[in-house]
Amino acid sequence: MLQVGALRGVVALDGPSGTGKSTVAQRLAADLGAHYLDTGAMYRAAALGVLRDGVDPADPAAVSATVERLSIDVGTDPGAAAVTLDGLDVSAEIRSAPVTSVVSPVSAVPEVRTLLVAQQREIIGTAAGIVVEGRDIGTVVAPDAPLKVFLTATPAQRAQRRASQDGVSDLDVVRRSVEWRDRLDSTRAASPLRPADDAVELDTTELDATEVLAALHELVAQRGLLVVVPSAPRGRP
Ligand code: DC
Repeated sequence: MLQVGALRGVVALDGPSGTGKSTVAQRLAADLGAHYLDTGAMYRAAALGVLRDGVDPADPAAVSATVERLSIDVGTDPGAAAVTLDGLDVSAEIRSAPVTSVVSPVSAVPEVRTLLVAQQREIIGTAAGIVVEGRDIGTVVAPDAPLKVFLTATPAQRAQRRASQDGVSDLDVVRRSVEWRDRLDSTRAASPLRPADDAVELDTTELDATEVLAALHELVAQRGLLVVVPSAPRGRP
């Protein structure tokens, strides 16, 4: 029996928050029998560690000293990508409002990025096929990725998506938070959010997740990143 169309190589999926990256990255990885890496979850776990230790997120030296001591692990199963901090599952906690409010300054600290990028490259290096989402995957983490996609959407649309995802009703508050994080992520000195020169830019404002997913499948096929993998015969490992 043959399993057709498994992903080989790295798909780098970058863009600001609220563009629908996580949903489509997980679905694409699951569809293609690939691993999935949410690099934002790693920065969120670092931010949680900073909060937990009572460190000032605006103090880069204290932040990097704290993050160096943390043990952050992320699963790469697109169906169950748990995140642990010092051995404890923090998958839900890293999505909380306090973490969201400090993750941008924490992720702007160059030493934090150096540590986490090294870990991300290690994970990517062991996977035959992987979909990686973040802000700097195409530019810094995996500059040789054979497919780089940069998702965009209007701030209003992104705020709307975030608000319904997080169950928040005050759209203005969410929009201000989204714009504030965009500004910090795009203007920081270390690996600012920007599309790689060879990234395909995809505006998702008018698209739902299924349409974005279809566009990604098409790009993966066009780039020749699908291989036919013979599955093991029954009864054999
Ligand atoms: O994708 P997210 O909202 O969970 O990301 C959380 C924060 O982490 C976001 O403010 C930007 C930062 N981030 C980053 O700087 N680099 C990445 N590769 C991924 C996320």
